[in-house]
Amino acid sequence: MARINDNYLKLQAGYLFPEISRRVKAFTDANPDAKVIRLGIGDVTRPLVPAVLKAFHEGVDDLAKGETFHGYGPEQGYSWLAEVVAEKAYKPLGVELKTSEIFISDGSKCDSANLLDIFDLGNKVAIGDPVYPVYNDTNVMIGRTGKANEKGYYEGIVYMPCTEENNFTPELPKEKVDIIYLCSPNNPTGTAASKEELKQWVDYARANDAIIFFDAAYEAFITQADIPHSIYEIEGAKECAIEIRSFSKTAGFTGVRCGFIVVPEALMGTTETGERYSFNKLWSRRTSTKFNGASYPVQKAAAAVYSDEGWAQVQEVIDYYMENARIIREGLTEAGITCYGGVNAPYIWLKTPEGMSSWDFFDKLLNECFVVGTPGSGFGPSGEGYFRLSAFGDRENVETAVSRIREKWGK
Ligand code: MLT
Repeated sequence: MARINDNYLKLQAGYLFPEISRRVKAFTDANPDAKVIRLGIGDVTRPLVPAVLKAFHEGVDDLAKGETFHGYGPEQGYSWLAEVVAEKAYKPLGVELKTSEIFISDGSKCDSANLLDIFDLGNKVAIGDPVYPVYNDTNVMIGRTGKANEKGYYEGIVYMPCTEENNFTPELPKEKVDIIYLCSPNNPTGTAASKEELKQWVDYARANDAIIFFDAAYEAFITQADIPHSIYEIEGAKECAIEIRSFSKTAGFTGVRCGFIVVPEALMGTTETGERYSFNKLWSRRTSTKFNGASYPVQKAAAAVYSDEGWAQVQEVIDYYMENARIIREGLTEAGITCYGGVNAPYIWLKTPEGMSSWDFFDKLLNECFVVGTPGSGFGPSGEGYFRLSAFGDRENVETAVSRIREKWGK
């Protein structure tokens, strides 16, 4: 019989979000009349904006005619989309990128997982705790770790606790690491790194020949002017950082699927024999072999996000979600619940009332308020005692959820 990849057996239970869906389904099956409000998984609820939809339709219509039909596209993405990204997403930040440094993909989750392919298993990895579970689990799956200890920490990974005490900002690891995952604005804590904080990481990475995986999937939700949208706003970052971005939350593409990853040409690693080698070349090679590109109409739709009309429309939707975030944050804070995040990110990270465990609060919230959130401990041991609410809901649902929580736990 063929051997399985035993690394998968090291993973704990199921992936967080399917586990939540399972519990919610059990509840709704037993209580079919309960009006459940879902603020768990960060899935968007507003429709695609008109300018994007129009471009999407045009892309589909192109496929209907011989003259405009498109078959396989470039695996790395159409250069017209990469040009728009360089021009509209980076140039205004003072960041110059070549189109050959931008790779269009089908989303950030896959990108952050796939990246591991081009790094040796011997690299030491540091991740935040709590963290987007994909960073941890994909390192386990690929075989970089030993087993998890009783707390849930895997042998071989350096965890950087993000707690109330350090303002949910990871501290520089004491030991030397080769790869650092940073996510800002952060999922799940909703906090965002300042320029000074990012500079510390870039300095650390350059001094230690380390590489930063910078997940900026939520950059469009930044409202404070001094918070960087890209790690490349920090001098020297092109030599030490890969940036991952997504259209999912920015433009409602969670079901459409499109993102991009920036692998600068200046980013170098070493071979077994100690020679310098370009990660950009490796990533391009990997992409050609393992991917056939995001679909043509989807890339047309993605390009329209950055048109003047598209961007203005997308911004309105982002404002709508951020108003939800304000309603949740202020509503719960007024009721005496300690809340973080929700200013530069669509997530509110709250301390569970009465010192409840994250999952106990999840069950209570579901059973008594019919509201679904995400237990903080699902993002890592330091998330215990916390809970995440997503601001991606409908306004009415968000308001109802806040008033139900206030009624139950408000002071
Ligand atoms: C989340 O809820 O953390 C995100 O929706 C998950 C994802 O983007 O994959």
